[in-house]
Amino acid sequence: MKVAPVSALTITPYQRRHLQPIRDLLFHSSYVHSHLDWLDSDQWLETGDTITHLAWQRGRLVGMIALSSPLNGSTWIRLAAVSDHVDPESVLCLLWADLVPRLRQLDVHTVGLLIVNDWIGRYASALGFHYGEEIVTLARAGYDIPNPLPNRPKIRVAELRDLSQLATLDQAAFGPPWQMSLYDLRQAYRIASSCTVATKDDLILGFQISTFFFDGAHLARLAVHPSQQGQGIGGALLGDLLERYTRRGIHLMTVNTQDSNHQSRRLYQRFGFEPNGYNLPYWFAEL
Ligand SMILES: CC(C)(COP(=O)(O)OP(=O)(O)OC[C@H]1O[C@@H](n2cnc3c(N)ncnc32)[C@H](O)[C@@H]1OP(=O)(O)O)[C@@H](O)C(=O)NCCC(=O)NCCS
Repeated sequence: MKVAPVSALTITPYQRRHLQPIRDLLFHSSYVHSHLDWLDSDQWLETGDTITHLAWQRGRLVGMIALSSPLNGSTWIRLAAVSDHVDPESVLCLLWADLVPRLRQLDVHTVGLLIVNDWIGRYASALGFHYGEEIVTLARAGYDIPNPLPNRPKIRVAELRDLSQLATLDQAAFGPPWQMSLYDLRQAYRIASSCTVATKDDLILGFQISTFFFDGAHLARLAVHPSQQGQGIGGALLGDLLERYTRRGIHLMTVNTQDSNHQSRRLYQRFGFEPNGYNLPYWFAEL
């Protein structure tokens, strides 16, 4: 395919009327990076508080980069696309150069990029991103569930009114850029097949959110408040969850975690999870 040189590009912030050109670009381009987790691109652009810049050439949309609303000084590139008819590196670099001052104004210091599609990985260095580590996928199949440790906490199904407490807990358990906002949690809760909380005296100590995924389930989030970790709460949530899915006839489960997250990896290993070879590289830029 003939790729035209990038001439006379105009960069503009996203406005609602740009939704259709974005849909067209995402539909026709081979260069699409989408790491939206819970939403499709329309929902995400329309309902989220995103930072989205668009690159235009002679009135035609040829590129875009969209980031999630910053949380505690960090954000992620969630959506990016470049038309097949222009040079991806030039378009991405121009968009990025335009975005950086805006992100700095918003006090963003870290931008994460999960390489879900190989193509964007080829341009990550040119944009000033550095390789961080692998996000590993672990999977388990079977019905063996370790017996719960003594003093198992009470576990109940989460309710909508718990979500703000879950967001606070999540942000205490994870550091930036891995934390979830209340908005993210609402979206996750909306599509969850199971969301449970571990409690003691009505206080929420930990929670999990999982979704149906092909013929199994995916554990999307497991977090225990730092002051309560190492006492069997994560294991209790996980064991209870596996029992719930077993009752529904589901015995396949996957989870993603950082390669360096030894605490979670030991717990998952104890419950029979093993790496399935499907890793996603995590890159980041410091502004
Ligand atoms: C990872 C995390 C959820 C684990 O929760 P936790 O409550 O601290 O974990 P537990 O107390 O249940 O597990 C502690 C130990 O008891 C073991 N254990 C837990 N349940 C058990 C059971 N039923 N039988 C035998 N051993 C068990 C675990 O394997 C672990 O063993 P280790 O000492 O070898 O590490 C928690 O540390 C956390 O929130 N971390 C930050 C957020 C995070 O990383 N989440 C996971 C990302 S995917």
